[in-house]
Amino acid sequence: MEADPQLLRQLDLWRDLVAEQQPRWPDQDALRRAVAELAISPPLVFAGEADHLKLRMAAAGRGEAFVLQGGDCAESFAANTADHIRHKIMTILQMAVVLTYGASLPIVKMGRMAGQYAKPRSADTEVRDGVELPAFRGDAVNDHEFTPESRIPDPHRLVRAYNASASTLNLIRAFTYGGFADLRRVHEWNKGFMRNPAYSRYEVLAAEIDRAVRFMGAAGVDFDAIRTVDFYSAHEALLMEYERALTRIDSRTGHAYDCSAHFLWIGERTRQLDGAHVDLLSRVENPIGCKLGPTATADDARALIDRLNPRGEEGRLTFITRMGAGRVRNALPPLLEAVKAHGVPVTWVCDPMHGNTIVSDSGYKTRQFTTVLDEVRGFFEAHDQVGTIPGGLHVELTGDDVTEVLGGAERIEDAGLGDRYETLVDPRLNHQQALEMAFAVAEMLRD
Ligand code: PEP
Ligand code: CO
Repeated sequence: MEADPQLLRQLDLWRDLVAEQQPRWPDQDALRRAVAELAISPPLVFAGEADHLKLRMAAAGRGEAFVLQGGDCAESFAANTADHIRHKIMTILQMAVVLTYGASLPIVKMGRMAGQYAKPRSADTEVRDGVELPAFRGDAVNDHEFTPESRIPDPHRLVRAYNASASTLNLIRAFTYGGFADLRRVHEWNKGFMRNPAYSRYEVLAAEIDRAVRFMGAAGVDFDAIRTVDFYSAHEALLMEYERALTRIDSRTGHAYDCSAHFLWIGERTRQLDGAHVDLLSRVENPIGCKLGPTATADDARALIDRLNPRGEEGRLTFITRMGAGRVRNALPPLLEAVKAHGVPVTWVCDPMHGNTIVSDSGYKTRQFTTVLDEVRGFFEAHDQVGTIPGGLHVELTGDDVTEVLGGAERIEDAGLGDRYETLVDPRLNHQQALEMAFAVAEMLRD
């Protein structure tokens, strides 16, 4: 099918709008070269896959599935190794098994992976010991190292981010269809986790899951659904040039898809109704998300729905709420009420991380495990109160034994944060904390 010239024009209308959080690329020629290279590079995902995910998100919106989105705050080129990717996938799959049991629902598995290379920042510059340099905006833009050369936005990094995403996706596809993700195998990993006495309070639940898996084995259950999994990619659609270059017209339908990932979301800092991000994403067919923080009003939510899902399609729009544990019980119900009354289907996902970031006494940006869990509990309570559907979880995690989030059964304390504080931006749950969270949320889902 020929691309519709009017649609092609519409895909560039954002250029006349304000695009928040864009790097100031000093070398415009280099930017043009990088974008031209991206524009002729193959898509990372296919339209049909994004459509399939949209159906899954629709199911989650109806309470027939539950979404788990997880991964780094910011992926990095340096950590884009087979081991790190495998550990992250393992962690998400392990959480998903526990949540499947707790929710008695299929889990829609999605990584903040294979493209999460750009970050919005609260300030344009960072000051250390009186030295002021451009802020780190993600490996797709500049280098984290605090030197003037490293912090210069380099457009060639957009191409590196594309290539890194392609290799991550390749490994994701191999791991999830090649037998690695078999439910019985993932369950064995979870048994390893449960051998740690710190998690004894989840023994009953773990034993129940074990019985269920053994029952399936005894009954001879052996079908594709337990041998392979669908695992989708997602990231914040932040860098306009990158997302536009990877937006393609599907030859089958003539519609536009942002083929940089299956699912894209708009961040809390770039969800202006008349802004560039909302405009571009309003024109692609992917399932998309939009973060809503504690300052979001009912009018904001309704207007975002009208802009981003004018056809009222199920599974198209997910609101990812990040209110903070202290505010979720007051701030969320009025939004749920307003959206419910508006009548257009929305899938609701809880991000219990971004409203709960603190600075520890020793100066680390961190979060408290108990506070994170409390926001999840508040999210369920709010939906219960209003009669809407809690559709999933969005968490920052890694598969490694880092020390970035305080607490959990392993009791990470302020003095221990420095041991393995490796994140480039926000603190992530480590492997154990992520699994512990899955058990705790599974218990909440059963209450
Ligand atoms: C993020 O998801 O890393 C992020 C920056 O979140 P938010 O837009 O909700 O602040
Ligand atoms: Co973050």
